Amino acid sequence: MNRKSKRIGARQALICTLSALMTVVASGQTPSAVLPDDKAVEKRVNALLDRMTLEEKIGQLSQLFLFGPSKQVDDALAKGQLGSLLFVTDPARINSLQRIAVEKSRLHIPLIFGFDVIHGFRTIFPVPIAMAASWDPSMVSAAQAIAAKEASSVGINWTFAPMVDIARDPRWGRIVEGAGEDPWLGSAMAAAQVRGFQGEYIGSPDHVLACMKHFAGYGAAEGGRDYDASNISETLLWNVYLRPFHAAVEAGVGSAMSAYMDLNDVPATGNRWLLHDVLRGDWRFQGFVVSDANAVKSLVVHGFAKDLPDAAVLALDAGVDMEMAIGTTAYSQNLAAAISSGKVTVQQIEEADRAVLGMKVRLGLFEHPYVDEARAARALATPEHRTAARVAAERSAVLLRNEGRLLPLGKTAYAKIAVVGPLADSQVDTLGSWAFNEDLTETVTVLAGLRNKAGSQAQLTFAPGVEISRKFPSPFAQLSRSKPPAPWTPEQAKDELRKAVDLAGSSDLTILVLGETQQMSGESASRESLALPGNEEQLLEAVAATGKPVVLVLLNGRPLDIRWAAQHIPAILEAWYPGTQGGNAIANLLFGDAVPGGKLPVTWPRDSGQVPIYYAHNTTQGPESQGKRYWDEESTPLYPFGYGLSYTTFTFSNLHVSQPQFRIGQTAEVTADVENTGPSTADEVPQIYIHQQYGSTSRPVRELKGFERITLAAHEKKTVHFSLGSKELSYWSAAKKAWVEEPARFDVWVGADSQATLHGSFTITQ
Ligand code: NOJ
Repeated sequence: MNRKSKRIGARQALICTLSALMTVVASGQTPSAVLPDDKAVEKRVNALLDRMTLEEKIGQLSQLFLFGPSKQVDDALAKGQLGSLLFVTDPARINSLQRIAVEKSRLHIPLIFGFDVIHGFRTIFPVPIAMAASWDPSMVSAAQAIAAKEASSVGINWTFAPMVDIARDPRWGRIVEGAGEDPWLGSAMAAAQVRGFQGEYIGSPDHVLACMKHFAGYGAAEGGRDYDASNISETLLWNVYLRPFHAAVEAGVGSAMSAYMDLNDVPATGNRWLLHDVLRGDWRFQGFVVSDANAVKSLVVHGFAKDLPDAAVLALDAGVDMEMAIGTTAYSQNLAAAISSGKVTVQQIEEADRAVLGMKVRLGLFEHPYVDEARAARALATPEHRTAARVAAERSAVLLRNEGRLLPLGKTAYAKIAVVGPLADSQVDTLGSWAFNEDLTETVTVLAGLRNKAGSQAQLTFAPGVEISRKFPSPFAQLSRSKPPAPWTPEQAKDELRKAVDLAGSSDLTILVLGETQQMSGESASRESLALPGNEEQLLEAVAATGKPVVLVLLNGRPLDIRWAAQHIPAILEAWYPGTQGGNAIANLLFGDAVPGGKLPVTWPRDSGQVPIYYAHNTTQGPESQGKRYWDEESTPLYPFGYGLSYTTFTFSNLHVSQPQFRIGQTAEVTADVENTGPSTADEVPQIYIHQQYGSTSRPVRELKGFERITLAAHEKKTVHFSLGSKELSYWSAAKKAWVEEPARFDVWVGADSQATLHGSFTITQ
């Protein structure tokens, strides 16, 4: 083992212990609360309900956004007319609002404070799609536990996360918030996040209530256009889109958010089948449902409700317990009258109250309504949290290309390094969407990270080269604390481009940082094209034309059209939006102090004309021409689902299935050997895929049914083990209208991505 590989080995060992350490750090103080049992909660809630007026009962079902001081909100709190507020993040302000609810209202019922803590609160972790790319649920769980600790330290009790929407169309801006296209990976990430946010039980100290969203089918928005309708077949709904939600429920998630859009013509927020029959009936969900912002009122916009009074009735009847809104809720304005006219019953209101109040009891809010205002200073952005964020970013990056082993870079190999690109030194664009409470000054850009790492050995120079912006501005622009720079004049644009190319030409190496700005990805950030925005492609090609070695680092929340780069740029690292410590993580990866081990959680299309494109499609007529379905472009992806390179190489061999034949209900045990055939310690993610060859419906050509991120020392070999039982082999058959496990022949593959070739098979009989 040479010196460099020893260094990488030590680093990987450190990463593993850090992952474990993050769990300890995140758990903070020892739980002291005594867990209330179901009976005690019920008794307490019933005692409260006995004393509540109808107005107070309806009040608990309203949640409002609060951005600044509001006399109207203060008055409503004193009268017990609100159950929750969202978007307040200052602990002193949280306490003063809570004091009104607790001390001035008749029954002293505390508020529950909600906020979008999506990938960190002060310490920002990589965006969710990035964390899914780590294929490391325990790391993701630990990251969300840290997010929960920071958020709860300022008085936030409830996060609107995890977002577990499956997304198979990267034009949809919110693909960045989820775990990608696959129900198995998505379920693992959903459960991991619920555990991280909530801790061992709802009300665990230093944790928050989680909220799975957006229930359900939001990720299938037609054309990838945010908020547009979803039309999802029964097969896909049960087998794909609903699975991560079910996994979150099984992990004990305490709340759910109803989605904005029409699901097969019935808006999710008025969809009794979804919120009642499936969620509470089939899945036995015990928490409460909140609507997405203004989604109850939108039932009128959808042409589903006649007017606002009708919308309030339909949403409550469907199973929305709490209405989230801006200004005022349809519930507070209309439910009392709906009771008088007999459209809803007091029992229905009380049912919703039971769910909401029960959660307030479980969270311990009645005993501890206030936050210790000094605690935030100790809990936010600690060195341990920063280390955890850096490790998370290192584990989330995906190495897409590394021709001629350009990476890792030798620390003294390049005297002059040009760092080029509009995102290379932008703090806000290193974070990604849903970062409101970050401390921008502590965010390490790629340029800053490279300076920290190599600044003393190499001369580092920077040029943005181009500037990029949205054609239509983001409606969330006003919430961002950083203002966009003034647009360049055409002259300036020419000058800047020339400067950057000259810089690349006079340097020994260029690190090109391209992708999308924070506001190009996220809510209301869908795109028609996947092209590199603005003149980034021009910059890329001009820099490459200098003939000097180029490393492309991508900061983005969706796959982009990088066909040209994939042919001409030797090294490409997908770093996503890596968060507060992004620059340090990227520098570690580029210089070999960390080894890339992330894998794509989405199929990477060649361009937007191919979408939706996903690996788990069905086999149909002419499978031999599957890759040639278009005459003007391949119909295969640029990179497959599950793909990602390392600085070392791995081989898979010896796939073994415990028996050739099983009966329904029995479990097939599958093993395979994985060997690190290179000179350094690194991570691999063995993945198992199955295909049911025939049955009552056609089944996908491949489906992921297990994975494990493992670390292998140089030349180490390990046997990985997967079980395929009813959980893995059953599916919802639209033909039989039931969950089935069918007698059939199955293919099985184990390997490094969804195109694994190591193959076995077995048969399931009656
Ligand atoms: C609307 C978004 O769709 C949802 O994800 C978010 O939690 C709420 N707004 C609250 O900010």
